[in-house]
Amino acid sequence: MALRVALGNNKGGTGKTSSTINLAAALAEEGKTVLVVGMDPQMNAERRMGLHVDEDNPIPTVSEAIKDGRSGVAIDAVTDIAWPAPYNERIRVIPARYDLENRISEAAVLGAVSRLRNVLDGVDDTYDFTLIDCPPSLGHLTQMALCAADVAVITLEPEYDAVASAVRFRDFIEAQAAELKNPELAVLGYIVNRSRPNLGAHAFQIEGLAERFGADKVWEPHITERTAIKDAADSEVPLRHLGAGAPREMADEYRKLAQHLLKAAV
Ligand SMILES: Nc1ncnc2c1ncn2[C@@H]1O[C@H](COP(=O)(O)OP(=O)(O)OP(=O)(O)O)[C@@H](O)[C@H]1O
Ligand SMILES: [Mg+2]
Repeated sequence: MALRVALGNNKGGTGKTSSTINLAAALAEEGKTVLVVGMDPQMNAERRMGLHVDEDNPIPTVSEAIKDGRSGVAIDAVTDIAWPAPYNERIRVIPARYDLENRISEAAVLGAVSRLRNVLDGVDDTYDFTLIDCPPSLGHLTQMALCAADVAVITLEPEYDAVASAVRFRDFIEAQAAELKNPELAVLGYIVNRSRPNLGAHAFQIEGLAERFGADKVWEPHITERTAIKDAADSEVPLRHLGAGAPREMADEYRKLAQHLLKAAV
């Protein structure tokens, strides 16, 4: 059974998608299989793994699966990624599409929060990990992801608003786990992203993280702000594919970060 991880934060741009795809790459490098589920209509994870919407040849997405709602139907939307080997052998994606927005209006339908969980049922049994990329919101799409997940991982930038949003995300899970039909749901850890510890404001926030979230929950290493991450995302390749220097260093950092997931999956 896959360990299902929802990566979220109420705030945009905190590294939910970067963490999703770079952890997927790191886990694949460890020989693990990963199913990435796009729950963000922005489709950033999909695009960064080389998938593009072809209006003439539409492929099934998580949006149609959720609309259908039948148990396990998301199997029809499992798609290969366009990254090179070995990543494309070990990572698959259930992509989002911009029309995933339309599912939000169905939130009031009875049982709507469980729909992603239902459609994923059995689909990821043969994977080691399922990583769900959430949108920057606490709304219905994120709620479906939190219902489907075994654990949540919160990404944050060490600055005031992102930390406040991480707190909101954590408190939402603690207060609403039962409403989300997932009473055991807990935050597994916090990823500190875009860290610039030489900035006073960042250093100040970093100092407070352990007390706020628990020292064992604030994962090391912190991911620093490096253009390699943006370059890999823009070029639609895994970090390591960009070559030596900063890209390889950052890929190694994600390998260390992925150890927290590997430990949790045992
Ligand atoms: N450590 C980093 N160093 C440099 N650039 C980064 C880093 N992390 C993320 N970025 C870049 O910052 C932007 C936002 O990151 P990302 O898309 O991962 O955040 P997000 O939380 O998924 O955003 P959204 O809320 O819009 O889904 C992207 O262009 C990404 O490539
Ligand atoms: Mg994103």
